[in-house]
Formats: sequence, structure tokens, C-alpha cells
Amino acid sequence: DRPTTVIADVYRGTFIHSTQTTAVQILEDALLGVDTQGKIAFIGKGKELDKLSQTFGFSPSAVTQLKQYEFFMPGMVDTHIHASQYSYAGTALDMPLLQWLNTYTFPVESRFKDLEFAKRVYTHVVKRTLRNGTTTACYFATIHTDASLLLGQIANDFGQRALVGKVCMDRNNSVKHYKETSQESQEETCRFIAELLNKKYPLVKPVVTPRFAPSCTGALLGQLGAIAKNNHLHIQSHISENTEEVKLVKELFPESESYTDVYHKYNLLTDKTVMAHGCYLSDKELDLFRETGASLSHCPNSNISLCSGMLNIRNVLNHKVKLGLGTDVAGGYSASMLDAVRRALDTSKVLTIQDPDHDTLTFEEVFRLATLGGSQALSLDDQTGNFEVGKDFDALRVDVVAPGAPIDLIQNEDPKILLEKFLNLGDDRNIVEVFVAGRNVVPFTEPTD
Ligand code: GUN
Ligand code: ZN
Repeated sequence: DRPTTVIADVYRGTFIHSTQTTAVQILEDALLGVDTQGKIAFIGKGKELDKLSQTFGFSPSAVTQLKQYEFFMPGMVDTHIHASQYSYAGTALDMPLLQWLNTYTFPVESRFKDLEFAKRVYTHVVKRTLRNGTTTACYFATIHTDASLLLGQIANDFGQRALVGKVCMDRNNSVKHYKETSQESQEETCRFIAELLNKKYPLVKPVVTPRFAPSCTGALLGQLGAIAKNNHLHIQSHISENTEEVKLVKELFPESESYTDVYHKYNLLTDKTVMAHGCYLSDKELDLFRETGASLSHCPNSNISLCSGMLNIRNVLNHKVKLGLGTDVAGGYSASMLDAVRRALDTSKVLTIQDPDHDTLTFEEVFRLATLGGSQALSLDDQTGNFEVGKDFDALRVDVVAPGAPIDLIQNEDPKILLEKFLNLGDDRNIVEVFVAGRNVVPFTEPTD
């Protein structure tokens, strides 16, 4: 059996990932081979080195050996982040959602007409999230087509897997110039999609992005649903984040039975749709998510920071709705998925404090949400999310005791305990290397322009 694949890199050590059936699977002294296309060619046992090196035609001396207290985990998937809002992350969290949008968000987003400003912010957010271990990001940009294309270019240049959305909004906006007509929004969305696809970036795709129902007329929602359908594209938006917003949607769309029904009516709920928040969805609405294959992005930092609500993840999982985690920068103040992991656990624990019968999430389950769950929520799980043969090698090399990092006492060397320590206490200093599609993207090699 001659190999048809050519092996580029082989790694030996501990690999930790989620599978369909196990939230945390630990492979100790494993060997993983990456082919020249960046795909996982094999994963086997260290003691099979000789056999694997013959079968796949690589030299045993070329194997990279992980150190003690190091492990590989899949790169994390941020299923909801506003790249443009990174410019004010960590500030302006003193108002509820609708006032917050009008007071802080729209004025800042309107500045992305300026491509120099956009380039500066977008470069920072792509670098920061990559360094934090986000190998896949699902981005909202702004309404500006050229700046949104620039975000796609920057993600591609730094080697991040990304869905990029040019935001669409044709009503209810405090900022006079930060709004489109529905015709502009439709035409510019088509231009954005065509130009982004034309670049043929291997890891960057467009996502149809109605901001949320209150920002869009029914006419625009319908047009965007049709564009997504005709081009088999991803869709992202917000849903049921805050009670005032839910009330407003009822007023704006009196003919619809529910918030979910508004999106469903305009063909915006598909198996490539991800909706952020969903704190106030009824069981019936969750059933509609499940039936259409649409997913939810749980953004716990934002939900708490804007006092929006608390998503009951257990209930979402019980309804078998696909679920990932999102930072929702800058409603969420942190651009780290490790923070999203911690806030998701906190939220679940608060629900248990309120109701002792609530079935608290485990850190293993939240690890899955940050990796495989996110890839499923974005319908990218055929390409990323875990270390299955045939998927791209999107991975973090974690050193639990990296110099300068905030973990210094190891009392138990069990890899699961090391993972738990990293998830609860670690930061970017523990993430010593980041790989996307086999390529080493952190530490950075600056793109040449
Ligand atoms: N709903 C509509 N737009 C936004 C936004 O930018 N952030 C959040 N958190 N919710 C929204
Ligand atoms: Zn958001």
C-alpha cells in the first residue's frame, strides 16, 4: 500500500480533543502526521512509529516531540465576534443592548468607511485572536464593503480560518450615515460575496449578515435569505438577546408568531445559519432551530456585561440544537475563547445556584463547545474541530508551565487535570504555537505587502 499523500510534519506527544461520543478524549504518546495540504494524514500510537514511518514514508528522525506538560488541542472556534468593535473592547458596558448600540456601537462602526482605520483595527483583532488560540473566527465587520473585504484579506494573510460578514441594516439607526437603503444593502452584499469569492482565499468565506431583525426591513431580510439560498452561503445574525429587543421585534413583525419565526419566514434559518445569544427562546423556537439545522452561539461574557440574560445551555443541548461559544467582542469585553469557556461555566453554575436541580455543565462539555461544537455550529466540522483523519490540522500547542504564564504548580500530571488547569488559569502565554491547516501561524511571520 503505497501512500498517496506526502507527509510534511509529524508530531509525537499528548493530543486532547472531543469526538462525537466523548467530550474529552486523551491520546497519550500519540503520533500525528500532517500532509503537504495541511490535512491530518494519520493518528496512531507512538510505539507504532516504525510501521507508520514505513507506511507513510517519513523519517522517524523528523518527528517533533512534545515536552513534558505540553499537549496539542484543537484550535478554538469563535462563533461570534464583531471585528470592528475590537476598537473599544473593554469599555462602554454601562447600558442595555439597544441604548448601547445607538450610543457606542453605531458611531464607532461608522468610522470603518476609513480604510486606514479599518486596517489598523482588523490587523489587531486577527493577531490578538490568533494568539489567543482562535483558529476559526466568524466575524461581523460593518456595512462597508471595502473594509469588510479588507478584513477577509487580513485573516487570509495571517492564516486564520474565517467567515466574514458585511453587515446589512436598512432601518432604526441613531447614526444618520450608518445605514443603507435595502437596495444598497442587497447590491453591496452581492458585490462583497463576488469579490471575496473571487480572491480564492483558501480559508476565508463570506457569510450573509443581516445585523438583526430590528435593523432590517422584511424586504431586506427576504432579499438576504434569497442571496444565501442561491449561493449556498452561511448566514449569521442575532436573536433573542435582551427582553426589550424581543418586545421590539414583536412590534415590528406583528404577523410573526415568534422572533425565530421572523427569520424562518425569510429563509434565514438553514443548516449554515448561526444566531448569537438566544437567551429568551421558547422550547418551541428551539425545536425550530433543531428542525432547520440552525445553530446558536452562546456569548456569556456579553450576556453578562450588557445585563442581557442567561442562556440555559443545558436546555439548548437537550433540544439537540447545535451550539458553539462566542466572545461577541465588544458586548463581550474579552477576545479570548478561554474567557468564553470560563463565563459559560460561570453562567451554568449561577443557574444551578438559582435552581439546584439544574444539571451544571462540566469543563469537559465546555471544552467541546469551544472546539468541535463550534465547528459544528458553523457547519465547518468536515474541515476542523478535532483531530480526525482527513480534517485540517488546526491545533494549539499548549505548554502548561510555559515561562511567564500564570500556572506554576502542577500537583497532578494527569493530562485531563492539565487541560482543566489550562482552561481555568491559562492564557496566550501557554499557547506556544498555533497551527491552521498545518501551517504554523503563531508565532507570527509578518505578511509582506
Ligand atoms: N444585536 C445587534 N447588533 C448587535 C451587536 O453589535 N452586538 C450585540 N451584542 N448584539 C447586537
Ligand atoms: Zn454580536
